[in-house]
Amino acid sequence: MLGPEMPLAEIEAWLREDDPARLSELWGAADETRRRFVGDEVHVRGLMEPSNHCVRSCTYCGLRAQNAAIPRYRLSTEHVLTAARQAHELGWGTLVMQTGEDYGLTREWVADLIRAIKRETPLAVTLSLGERPREDFAAWREAGADRYLLRFETSDPALYAHIHPPLSPCEPNRIERLRWLAELGYEAGGGVMIGIPGQSYEILARDIDLFRAMDLDMIGVGPYIANPDAPLGCEDALPDGEQVPADELMAYKVVALTRLVCPEANLPATTALATLDRAHGRMLGLQRGANVIMPNLTPARYREMYRIYPGKAGYAETAEATAGRLRGQLAEIGRRVGVGPGGRRQGQSEE
Ligand code: 5AD
Repeated sequence: MLGPEMPLAEIEAWLREDDPARLSELWGAADETRRRFVGDEVHVRGLMEPSNHCVRSCTYCGLRAQNAAIPRYRLSTEHVLTAARQAHELGWGTLVMQTGEDYGLTREWVADLIRAIKRETPLAVTLSLGERPREDFAAWREAGADRYLLRFETSDPALYAHIHPPLSPCEPNRIERLRWLAELGYEAGGGVMIGIPGQSYEILARDIDLFRAMDLDMIGVGPYIANPDAPLGCEDALPDGEQVPADELMAYKVVALTRLVCPEANLPATTALATLDRAHGRMLGLQRGANVIMPNLTPARYREMYRIYPGKAGYAETAEATAGRLRGQLAEIGRRVGVGPGGRRQGQSEE
């Protein structure tokens, strides 16, 4: 059953499917669901990475505090405002600010920045600043932030504990924090990595089932990419046939299944997907369920330092050139750049 009620066992069976004819059915159903529920507009979010400092020790991520191989930076308010103006001038509706968990970015500094963006532009503001205290989330919402992204990475508690050492013994996990964010009135975005060593097909099927149960507004998924500057390694992988591969085909399956079970959610074709399939990743993602794209507006000299994994895909061109090229590529696949903030549409299926 290729619809929102798809049973868990069937989700898992699709994850294991490798018959090309069957997979084309999956892509077709996901694309049709995308068209009906969120339409042909592709929302473009300008992505800005104002800091790569992080207090965490996530075993998969290059920003982890222990990684001495990357120089650390923090950008100024003016840097971020420049990116915001640029996004607006290019006709994009949202600025996403993503950082490591950096308490050098104080609650007040971030709140002032959100107010300044809102004063100067009509952009929606999405934050992705890690597992900050609830008071910070509340202050930023009060200052005008619209959305918050916090991937829960995996729904499996043991695997989560393995890849995400806590800062203190009983801290709330990211799933709980996503509930706070929804309570505070944010559009809340979760997501997972695909092919984490130790991730079974059953775990990944449960992740997708949890997206549905949480009724997330945004869901970002992408393949896990091994990072030589982070300790998680293939020695944690499950035996053949049990371990989910971290490849682009699996990522497309997860995008498509996520669209089918969460028809209204905003789903990006992610940078990690584009990193594995540079030529087609973004556009194929958009043709298999995704409806959002997030080009990078971080100044070029800092981008290389925001190395959560190696070889991160980016557009090696100016933002203007990216905007022009995206318009052309989207037209080729019968889509267009979305106008306005592109928030979640609820109950607005076009048929
Ligand atoms: N491979 C793929 N994705 C990664 N992320 C962090 N490290 C990696 C990696 N090595 C993803 C996480 C995080 C998001 C910002 O980037 O899912 O939530």
